[in-house]
Amino acid sequence: MQQATERLSGHHPGVTESGEQGATWGSVSDTALEARHLFKVFGKNPNQAVRRLEAGETRADVLDAGTAAVIDASFTVKRGEIFVVMGLSGSGKSTLIRMLNGLLPPTSGEVLIHGRNVTTAGPRELRQIRRESVSMVFQHFALLPHRSVIDNAAYALEIQGVPRAERLERARVLLDKAGLAEWADARPDELSGGMRQRVGLARALTAGTDVLLMDEAFSALDPLIRREMQQQLVELQQELGRTIIFITHDLNEAMFLGDRIAVMRDGRIVQNGTPEEILTDPANDYVAQFVQDVDRTKVLTARTVMEPPHLTTPVSAGVRGALRVLREQQARAVFATEGRRLVGVVTDRAVIRAVKAGQTDLRAIVDQSVLTVGPDDLLTDIVESAVESPVPLAVVDGARRLVGVIPRVTLLATLGNVEPSTRELPVVQTPIDMVAEFTPLVDEAAAVPAQTSSEGGQE
Ligand SMILES: Nc1ncnc2c1ncn2[C@@H]1O[C@H](COP(=O)(O)OP(=O)(O)OP(=O)(O)O)[C@@H](O)[C@H]1O
Ligand SMILES: [Mg+2]
Repeated sequence: MQQATERLSGHHPGVTESGEQGATWGSVSDTALEARHLFKVFGKNPNQAVRRLEAGETRADVLDAGTAAVIDASFTVKRGEIFVVMGLSGSGKSTLIRMLNGLLPPTSGEVLIHGRNVTTAGPRELRQIRRESVSMVFQHFALLPHRSVIDNAAYALEIQGVPRAERLERARVLLDKAGLAEWADARPDELSGGMRQRVGLARALTAGTDVLLMDEAFSALDPLIRREMQQQLVELQQELGRTIIFITHDLNEAMFLGDRIAVMRDGRIVQNGTPEEILTDPANDYVAQFVQDVDRTKVLTARTVMEPPHLTTPVSAGVRGALRVLREQQARAVFATEGRRLVGVVTDRAVIRAVKAGQTDLRAIVDQSVLTVGPDDLLTDIVESAVESPVPLAVVDGARRLVGVIPRVTLLATLGNVEPSTRELPVVQTPIDMVAEFTPLVDEAAAVPAQTSSEGGQE
């Protein structure tokens, strides 16, 4: 399904290709959860505060009536999506997520999960929705200390009244996926913090609900273990196709996990978009500042930075066609194409030699070993090729059609935004040779007889 493909090809490096599972949800309604104009005000006069906010007053204006923790939040989460809510401390994230499963009643607005209205549900229906549709994972997975790991993992099923043998069986499957099979009979206090979090995750997954709400679930972990958990969550999500709403104040975590990210500020969602959209087109200065330190190369793909391929010549136009393009564009190399397919690259030197030797067939001088990248390749994986390539990088699709090019200047400009401490990329220290790459074809070209007026250049 779309989602899984996006994730695989998009911003999750190193994730194994096991995303077919997402297809399970294809036939059902596409929407897992919908929040409509949610407000939550704590204090004396919540309803009055909402009316005033709706009339245009600010959060500060209505302080006398109460603290507006969430203001007019609306969004839709698709099935199988990881939807991240990100914002600084106090921006309203926890309040928002608690309204989603009915832990907190909204002051105004409503929440639908799989089309069922959580906000208007009575206690019985709410319990049913929680049992069937939505589980919550907290920052500290409150494990039951006197129960074994597997009993903890099976706890939600126990509450659902699932017979013991069956629930242990189902819990074992998830423990196994979480890499904890051999710890099934241990007590929680025998495990490390990261392992305990994984038991908590297994417990939430064992419950079998589609929607998982995770509030700062990895924030208490040290960075390495945290990274591992993020990887594992993405893998489990791909395999199981669950819908995850994940809260974090860590931008890199948000960028790594999120199919979409909602950025909150002072109770409001100020932007809701893909990681790429948030990086490349921040809705306001607040978001722009928030994202300025992100390692863009791990989020942006070739598609985002590529440019239309202008420097092309059809093989059928021959050596002269290539020469003409090189001159007109003052370039040192040109991509040779056949239809839209990339055949290879032709350098000015090769063309000049061919012209001198009276050769006309372009195919004979095309260098077919040209490096190519895919539109969905992450910049972080491209940089090395770019450094080695004497010409702009060719971006080709699955049918080897030339869909774009990435000049090294573009790549360097993008790298310029990378915080040095967060990168493990080869640092490009010689922008000087870029200059050479883009210098016009002077000396040698001048030596070539001017006989390039033939037709049949570009299509
Ligand atoms: N029960 C409550 N009573 C009064 N005010 C509250 C209550 N819960 C939250 N608030 C206020 O609502 C605002 C949003 O709080 P919330 O806990 O949702 O923020 P958060 O984004 O989760 O922050 P953090 O990153 O620190 O967890 C804060 O100003 C907070 O003080
Ligand atoms: Mg919180």
